[in-house]
Amino acid sequence: MLDQYINLLKSGEVVAFPTETVYGLGADAKNPDAIKKVFEIKGRPSDNPLIVHIADKKQVEDFASEITDDAQKLMDAFWPGPLTLIFKKKPEVLDIITAGLDTVALRWPKHPLSQQLIALAGPVVAPSANSSGKPSPTKAEHVKEDFGDDFPVVDAGETEIGLESTVLDITSEPYTIYRPGAVSADDISSIIDKEVIQESNSSTDETAKSPGTKYSHYSPEAKVQWISGGDATFVEEALYLLHSRPAPRKNSRVIHYDGNFNKMAHELYDRFRHADHQHLEYVFIEPFSDEQLQKPIVQALQNRISKAIG
Ligand code: TXA
Ligand code: MG
Repeated sequence: MLDQYINLLKSGEVVAFPTETVYGLGADAKNPDAIKKVFEIKGRPSDNPLIVHIADKKQVEDFASEITDDAQKLMDAFWPGPLTLIFKKKPEVLDIITAGLDTVALRWPKHPLSQQLIALAGPVVAPSANSSGKPSPTKAEHVKEDFGDDFPVVDAGETEIGLESTVLDITSEPYTIYRPGAVSADDISSIIDKEVIQESNSSTDETAKSPGTKYSHYSPEAKVQWISGGDATFVEEALYLLHSRPAPRKNSRVIHYDGNFNKMAHELYDRFRHADHQHLEYVFIEPFSDEQLQKPIVQALQNRISKAIG
């Protein structure tokens, strides 16, 4: 089933494939012309580096110049899985991947199809498979929405987590999370017994260490807003995403997650895309409590929703 996609990758073409987080837009990590196509197809600025996806810890040695004890512990604890690690790069890693930085981001995704694809085609760079400015795709349909019906996508239905991986810089201490995901600072700290800090959400300046964080992120045409105070009166042209408080009304535009934050993460980008299809004016989201924000997936939700609010 994967043969045609493996052949496309080997011949320098770009293929979308599922991971446990979101769909990725893959290209051979050793082929600069193929990687150039990824930037063109997405409309991605060339100063935003890509994650290299591997399918074996051994492959880290092809890209990272140094594998510290902490790196080894983190790979052992969280790979395959939704943690991207930033290493010092080997000189031969292509500049187009790293946007000229002296570091490279590596991740071993968990989805069996991504593992088979990479095992047979070799390491691939893979940003999320959306046009720049759109939410990351969590279904093959989202990829086709952005890149056309004929675009090659390994279709495996909905991705499990629904939000992108945690990005952790381990090239200097204190280790820094540039993008929160399903693996949290506490999860990481508990493995290496070191403090891990979270880069603030508001790093929009040119000096942002993770270039991706400085770009304005997707926000739907609809205005995304936190529900403030007691105000949850029902507005017709809005989508409501609730998790704890009672619903103002039973209605297909009121989605209640009943504390199931994994489900909320799983669906968030699809809900955003859907709100735009329906030309809604607002997406109102119930804010998270401090206690809820202890959960890694809620921190990741908070981060992506705050970016959508702008
Ligand atoms: O879950 C994911 O990580 C998905 C799936 C497909 O694996 N991929 C993904 O890739 O979200 P992308 O390109 O949309 O986001 C990668 C983020 C960007 O914010 C980028 O700036 C950052 O990782 N990044 C990549 N290489 C970096 C580096 N060397 N130093 C700092 N940040 C880096
Ligand atoms: Mg992305």
